[in-house]
Amino acid sequence: MKEKFYITTAIAYTSQKPHIGNVYEAVLTDAIARYKRQSGKDVFFLTGTDEHGQKIEDYAAKAGVSPKAYVDGVAGEIRAVWDAFGVSYDGFIRTTDPQHERVVQKIFRRLYEQGDIYKGAYEGHYCKPCESFWTETQLVDGKCPDCGRPVVDAEEEAYFFRLSKYADRIQDLLENTDFLQPRSRVNEMINNFIKPGLEDLCVSRTSFSWGVPVDFDPGHVVYVWIDALSNYINALGYENDRYHDFDKFWPADVHFVGKEIVRFHSIIWPAILMALDLPLPKHVYGHGWLLLDGGKMSKSKGNVVDPYVLAERYGVDALRYFLLREFPFGSDGNFSNEALISRINIDLANDLGNLLSRSVSMVEKYFGGTLPAEHQADPIDEELVGMISSLREKYEEQMEHYAFQ
Ligand code: MSP
Repeated sequence: MKEKFYITTAIAYTSQKPHIGNVYEAVLTDAIARYKRQSGKDVFFLTGTDEHGQKIEDYAAKAGVSPKAYVDGVAGEIRAVWDAFGVSYDGFIRTTDPQHERVVQKIFRRLYEQGDIYKGAYEGHYCKPCESFWTETQLVDGKCPDCGRPVVDAEEEAYFFRLSKYADRIQDLLENTDFLQPRSRVNEMINNFIKPGLEDLCVSRTSFSWGVPVDFDPGHVVYVWIDALSNYINALGYENDRYHDFDKFWPADVHFVGKEIVRFHSIIWPAILMALDLPLPKHVYGHGWLLLDGGKMSKSKGNVVDPYVLAERYGVDALRYFLLREFPFGSDGNFSNEALISRINIDLANDLGNLLSRSVSMVEKYFGGTLPAEHQADPIDEELVGMISSLREKYEEQMEHYAFQ
């Protein structure tokens, strides 16, 4: 029996077509999935699209089409980009899949019936682009702590998840295990969210309708993050009869996510799983951002680089190489055409390309196109043999630590 390995990307919003920052996450996750397959593991690599919420409803309205027609289009584009970039996913989940929506409703109802979700009223500050409610103390200079944009006062009847009940267990998980990686992300979570005190989380909305309805209370839709996070278990077959991989692949070995959504994956997601009495993922890894001119490349800001344009100009393999080689995975990195071109020219063309072409031409010139089966080893050969024999071990060591660079 092969050992299993379950790895996921975040599911991308279908607000607009993907940019090279989204491709970055998919390609790096893909590199690990391929590496694990090569090392003999039975791999399940899941990716997909996050298709509900007010922002997407707004985009659809602007485009003059129904939300479903809109997300069908963008989800198709995202999948096409993943395919073009050789992302070898085993599953592609969409949060508008009917079976996914049914399971989200089941989860919500179960948490409500067992008392982990209760009905209350919400007064707070709402950041529309991030679809997040914030308390006064969480705001930074009166603005959204995640994106720095203005928030609006809002009040609504809503359901709450008893996040506070799980605070001690979450703190223990973060502080005393290697659940969240790299370690630097742990301090961010403890200082920004655990120390100020974990408050119960508002998990329904009435201000828009493009979401999974709370089936026992019309008018309420399930908060997009409960809907989105549960993709990781639903896509395997949790509580549904469409897929049958849940017992085999859950818990996930690692969720790869960008640093701005580590909070959802390392605090809210484990608490939901605790409430559902399910095993926790082994690791969450919060990677850095690709920046453009020093700022996060983001669809809502519009400072994005189109992956197709790059692929056409430079080729997919060169781009994949660049994304893996140029940026330390846990940190942010500045994207630039100059850096890309110099990696292509220096690493690929000059170093590797020349090595290959010189080796091949010497094999041609001195050995008539085939290597002799036997020859006498010189000391210089031993050095080379030693280097090559230890290479695999070194490579594996780096890959196990996601040190793609
Ligand atoms: N839908 C949520 C995730 C839900 S997961 C249960 C979301 N979507 S997103 O489209 O905004 O981002 C998808 C992933 O791409 C996230 O992990 C995000 O961090 C990553 N990236 C988005 N822009 C990025 C960069 N500029 N650089 C690197 N990764 C980036 O968040």
